[in-house]
Amino acid sequence: MTVDRSVFQALESAAANTAPTDPAGVPLRVHLAGLYLSAGEPERSLQHATTALAASPHDTTALSVAAAAASATGNEQLAEGYRAIHTALLNGGSEGPAPSGGGSGQRGTPTGTERRRPTSDPGSPVEVEEDAAEQPLSEPLSEPAGWDSSDPGTITLADVAGMHDVKQRLHRSLLGPMQNPQLREAFGKQLRGGLMLWGPPGTGKTFIARALSGELGAGFLSASPADVYGSYFGQSEQNIARLFAQARREAPGVVFLDELDAIGGRRSRRNTDQARAVVNQLLLELDGMAGNDGVFVLAATNAPWDVDEALRRPGRFDRTVLVLPPDAPAREALLRLQFEGRPIAPDIDLASLVRGTELFSGADLVRLVESATERALERSMQVGMVSPATDADFQAALRDTPPSTRAWLSTAATYLAHAGTGEDFDELRAYLRRHRIS
Ligand SMILES: Nc1ncnc2c1ncn2[C@@H]1O[C@H](COP(=O)(O)OP(=O)(O)O)[C@@H](O)[C@H]1O
Ligand SMILES: [Mg+2]
Repeated sequence: MTVDRSVFQALESAAANTAPTDPAGVPLRVHLAGLYLSAGEPERSLQHATTALAASPHDTTALSVAAAAASATGNEQLAEGYRAIHTALLNGGSEGPAPSGGGSGQRGTPTGTERRRPTSDPGSPVEVEEDAAEQPLSEPLSEPAGWDSSDPGTITLADVAGMHDVKQRLHRSLLGPMQNPQLREAFGKQLRGGLMLWGPPGTGKTFIARALSGELGAGFLSASPADVYGSYFGQSEQNIARLFAQARREAPGVVFLDELDAIGGRRSRRNTDQARAVVNQLLLELDGMAGNDGVFVLAATNAPWDVDEALRRPGRFDRTVLVLPPDAPAREALLRLQFEGRPIAPDIDLASLVRGTELFSGADLVRLVESATERALERSMQVGMVSPATDADFQAALRDTPPSTRAWLSTAATYLAHAGTGEDFDELRAYLRRHRIS
């Protein structure tokens, strides 16, 4: 983690200056616990989280950090205890556990131990908080996770061809509120929960997310399965906790979970402790979102049928956007985009190319244009002068690169046979019917 040591020191002394039982010190301690967790110091993190919980036992953020920290220290039983309290609180509250009882205190939580003596020159907590918050959200997390929040701004939604509906929904549900604090405030509750992009591979889901990152500049944290799954015990769920802790700290912003099926796969299917712990941590984080805390969660998957059902329940990834292969106008736009800067014969028959590429994903179209121009390049080298790609090059390329979406579409047809109704499902059914896929 890139947080300066002096920030820790300043926050530590500010925390030491607040009585452990004073609820006013809770946000500071939770913040500090999150920082320590990110810095790979779970013991210290746990210490602050449990002190915060002693003063405010129902603080869900403190509980989620405590669970991750406990897990990271290898105390899975303690972590389970915190998760249980967290879940109990969110599922109704009245049955919530009694203050410091609730199964955590007895398990050897270091509540109140090793607390610092107040120091003479504390510096106000508020100033220190601002210091820590100054880091832009785009700043990459340090090892071991290394979230890909690099080069935002290289592509924007303008680079995404077609997909007007998808863009509109993203504007409405994400970009608009993100860019307008008043909207965020007013509609926060309504925007609670995550949005999941799904569809065949190569249709631009990851590309769209990168474009959103570009639109938002800083404020976009992206994690792939490789970022999440760590090799040592407890690291994976800790990575999830760190990701969300960072997002909350640096809100407003978007957390993007790519290939959600691999991150949050069905616990029943991948019956490993690690996979289960990751899904549990993810559920914890999603349920802990207040809605108007300015953190939006976006995910993408090619395999929605492999995503754990619990992740799809209300308040979690309950909003979905289907991203299908581009329709004719979108294919035309995408092809034109790909033609830019490439040697393409001016009399190319674009209309027939558009007709001949039904079912092609965006990625397929990119490959097609590359393949046709490669042919032209080979020819150019043979004749020693630039010979742009012609219709014949494209016809040859078409024969070599069939659309890659077919397998996905037939899997989806099977899935649909068991799926209920819904906007996305109806849209997909209509698409399959139109293309006679069953
Ligand atoms: N609508 C689109 N506009 C521009 N490029 C696209 C579009 N859809 C796909 N692509 C291209 O295809 C590539 C692969 O898309 P990707 O986002 O990885 O697909 P997915 O995540 O849905 O599997 C992208 O890097 C981009 O070059
Ligand atoms: Mg992808």
